[in-house]
Amino acid sequence: MNKWLLEGKVCLITGASSGIGLETAVGLAAAGARVVMLCRDEARGEAARQEIMKRGSSAAVDLLLADLASQTQVYQLISQFRLAYHRLDVLILNAAVITKERQETEDGFEMQFAVNHLNQFLLARRLLDRLISSAPSRIIAVSSEMHHYGRIPLDEFSHSQRYHPLRTYANTKLANVMCTFAFARRLSGIGVTANCVYPGQARTNLLRELPGWVQKMSWVTAVSPEEAARSPLYLAASPDVGDISGAYFEGKEPAQAASHAHDESLQDRLYQLCLDLTPVR
Ligand SMILES: NC(=O)c1ccc[n+]([C@@H]2O[C@H](COP(=O)([O-])OP(=O)(O)OC[C@H]3O[C@@H](n4cnc5c(N)ncnc54)[C@H](OP(=O)(O)O)[C@@H]3O)[C@@H](O)[C@H]2O)c1
Repeated sequence: MNKWLLEGKVCLITGASSGIGLETAVGLAAAGARVVMLCRDEARGEAARQEIMKRGSSAAVDLLLADLASQTQVYQLISQFRLAYHRLDVLILNAAVITKERQETEDGFEMQFAVNHLNQFLLARRLLDRLISSAPSRIIAVSSEMHHYGRIPLDEFSHSQRYHPLRTYANTKLANVMCTFAFARRLSGIGVTANCVYPGQARTNLLRELPGWVQKMSWVTAVSPEEAARSPLYLAASPDVGDISGAYFEGKEPAQAASHAHDESLQDRLYQLCLDLTPVR
């Protein structure tokens, strides 16, 4: 990565306390960016910040705290960000969770839907003006090949009837892809790109709540978080992809997203639903 590429750029990344997010943040810092980490836990966030500064050889790493399960905290975080930073060049929506049992957030949403998708949609939506005024700028959503198995249950995102951790996760990852495509269409021609990426199977904490054998199986072919971070980093910093928007990448290569992810009418209905579920406060 050429250091000059992100010199002077502000990059906000969610879920930077571990795994792929932490490694992406190290790469952003090493590329000269001012890295703004969004984490939910102060101790884990601060430990990660120290590691990112050390390994990225940079002091320009800041920590903001918010639990993405809470819209109140996301709105507070947005206000804090707006006060502290006058530009936003790269927004990486990376945080995710897989809960074994169905959980509900304080706002009454199913946990994975809220954390993996809805409240990060809210973050992106409410920072669009900063991205636009900082253009050329980029949104990168870290999704998964699991999105191929997802569906968009517009009427039943609460998953109250048929909760299954991985099916629900797949739905949230499909929602990431579809809203990224919807953002790309809305931002077309104004210098803000929106792409999503499957970083590959990586040995991270993501499956920690699931039975040990699930993690063992998935780790057989998994790579290190550092290796997986190369693709979000590439989308964040490489001039090769500066003009690409509305694409799904696997690693560093554009790939076929699920055919149903390209349904623009469904994208728009999902986008509108997400707007309706994140009313201005
Ligand atoms: N690992 C894989 O094989 C794989 C494959 C495909 C896609 N992905 C995608 O890669 C991305 C990163 O996941 P990972 O594998 O690196 O998993 P990870 O190590 O578990 O990292 C997830 C990050 O999200 C944060 N997070 C979770 N819930 C949060 C909340 N309520 N509020 C704020 N932050 C929260 C975690 O913070 P804490 O430290 O506080 O828990 C952590 O920093 C995800 O979008 C995932 O879907 C991963």
